[in-house]
Amino acid sequence: MSKTILLTGATDGIGLEAAKLLAKSGHRVLLHGRSKDKLASASAAVAAVANDIDVKTYCADLSTVEATESLAQEVIASNDRLDVLINNAGVLKTPETVTSEGLDIRFAVNTIAPYLLTKALLPLLGDQARVVNLSSAAQASVDLAALANATGLDDMEAYSQSKLAITMWTNGVASSLQDRSIMLVSVNPGSLLGSKMVSDAFGVQGKSLSIGAEILSRAALSPEFEQASGLYFDNDAGDFGPPHADALNITQCMAVVEAIEQTIARVKNARVKNAGS
Ligand SMILES: NC(=O)c1ccc[n+]([C@@H]2O[C@H](COP(=O)([O-])OP(=O)(O)OC[C@H]3O[C@@H](n4cnc5c(N)ncnc54)[C@H](OP(=O)(O)O)[C@@H]3O)[C@@H](O)[C@H]2O)c1
Repeated sequence: MSKTILLTGATDGIGLEAAKLLAKSGHRVLLHGRSKDKLASASAAVAAVANDIDVKTYCADLSTVEATESLAQEVIASNDRLDVLINNAGVLKTPETVTSEGLDIRFAVNTIAPYLLTKALLPLLGDQARVVNLSSAAQASVDLAALANATGLDDMEAYSQSKLAITMWTNGVASSLQDRSIMLVSVNPGSLLGSKMVSDAFGVQGKSLSIGAEILSRAALSPEFEQASGLYFDNDAGDFGPPHADALNITQCMAVVEAIEQTIARVKNARVKNAGS
């Protein structure tokens, strides 16, 4: 049966490759990107491999709470149902590391935006829906102060913390949604896959992006992920496996959820105050 699948960061790398694969298999893909030009090229590339289907696109910079909320509203306004959300957009190295809302861009894009999008889209996610969150083999204990406000972490430290943080909130939210038939899973798509993120950060060409696209497609659709809620799939090992120990500690996972909630609330309050002054 054809599913409706929203992929964030579908304009390049693993996300674009996964969008092509899913569309080719007959699924309705909704492509998110932050650049209108790149979205136009991505939708043409997806349509070209899938019998010129009509591909819906959404443009939003996920580095701010405000734009992420608007994206969620746009998706809700233009769809009756969503079967799969793939939170793929991510950033490691970038010239500007502090967002306009004062957050470290790695936490903003890799951790907080996917949380906000997932929560806002829950009403649209039907029975048996899936949320696939992009984790990484790079995981480091989360400094909650750095999640809440940019503190000048170096690129790799910020990235690794943001990737453990998404793994932790995935487990935390999965456990709090046990009464709903939604599956949330974290996936390390494989290390050093040949995207611009990898060439910019490590100066290597990397392995085939199809390795990442295929595991995202399996996580989105295959029965082997039906009971995977809260788990971590490590595609370097080719199996489910233990993430960093912090992501197995539900108290610590819920502390990350709480810190994200507080950060979003603070950013929104500051916006209201600024609008009033
Ligand atoms: N490649 C690997 O080996 C590897 C390993 C582990 C995990 N991952 C994860 O896999 C995911 C995809 O990464 P990739 O390697 O395919 O990297 P990529 O080629 O750089 O793609 C990243 C995607 O995210 C989008 N993006 C970045 N910043 C954004 C922002 N502020 N707002 C909205 N969209 C934004 C990019 O948009 P633009 O096209 O406009 O730049 C692009 O579509 C990431 O979450 C990454 O952490 C990758």
